[in-house]
Amino acid sequence: MGRLAGRRILITGAASGIGRATAELFAAEGAKLALADRDEKALNAVAATLKAAAFPCDVTDSASVDRAVTGAALALGGLDGLVNSARIMIRGTIEGTDLATWNKVMAVNATGTFIVCKAAGRGTIVTMASATALVPPPSAGLAYVASKGAVISFSKLLATELAPAIRVNTVCPGAVETPMTDGLNISPAMYALKRIAKPAEIAAAILFATSHESAFMTGTTLTLDGGRTYH
Ligand SMILES: NC(=O)c1ccc[n+]([C@@H]2O[C@H](COP(=O)([O-])OP(=O)(O)OC[C@H]3O[C@@H](n4cnc5c(N)ncnc54)[C@H](O)[C@@H]3O)[C@@H](O)[C@H]2O)c1
Repeated sequence: MGRLAGRRILITGAASGIGRATAELFAAEGAKLALADRDEKALNAVAATLKAAAFPCDVTDSASVDRAVTGAALALGGLDGLVNSARIMIRGTIEGTDLATWNKVMAVNATGTFIVCKAAGRGTIVTMASATALVPPPSAGLAYVASKGAVISFSKLLATELAPAIRVNTVCPGAVETPMTDGLNISPAMYALKRIAKPAEIAAAILFATSHESAFMTGTTLTLDGGRTYH
């Protein structure tokens, strides 16, 4: 029996990076998966490999999310878990961030998390923030860091509102080897462990937060940053 045997879980941002690695791990642990992403081609490829249901959707559009959630619940016979991994990153200082950019980043990362949790929050919810929201490095980008700070606070209060029926936890990775960090020239020297993370290492924490093993954990922020923020 897998650690998620029979659990019906929706994962957003599942076409790439951590979302994709989470889908792979959850499938191996026996979950029934509905995968959502706005990149339809990549989404269909991942879903076909994992024999999961695929729902192209834009997390900033509540009608699009509602369609995906309805389709997912129909396909799986219900939903009892959610992982929010969709995101965009646009870096910039206050001088380099115009209002349109700020709104775009907030719309996907913060408002998108709200829209998806409102539509699909059941059983367990995992939201994705970032260690950059806890101790922001100068290069992280003002709008991105602010959007992830919003996710952390939102998730803590949501955990209180939805307890005890639904558990809500947030995972805060440091840099991970994904398309998001390609070309960013992140120095491993920033990390006590002298390397950045692999997507599967973050997926393992998301699995813990979703599985019964974390049954007494809610409103928690799990930081997996190779020791960047403590030293
Ligand atoms: N990669 C890192 O180093 C890192 C570090 C800290 C936190 N995180 C967080 O982990 C999560 C996953 O990051 P990742 O690196 O796997 O990202 P990624 O870019 O590899 O994947 C993000 C996915 O979200 C999808 N997406 C973007 N906008 C969308 C929208 N409007 N609607 C639906 N889907 C949309 C993209 O198509 C993509 O498939 C994010 O919340 C990110 O902020 C990542």
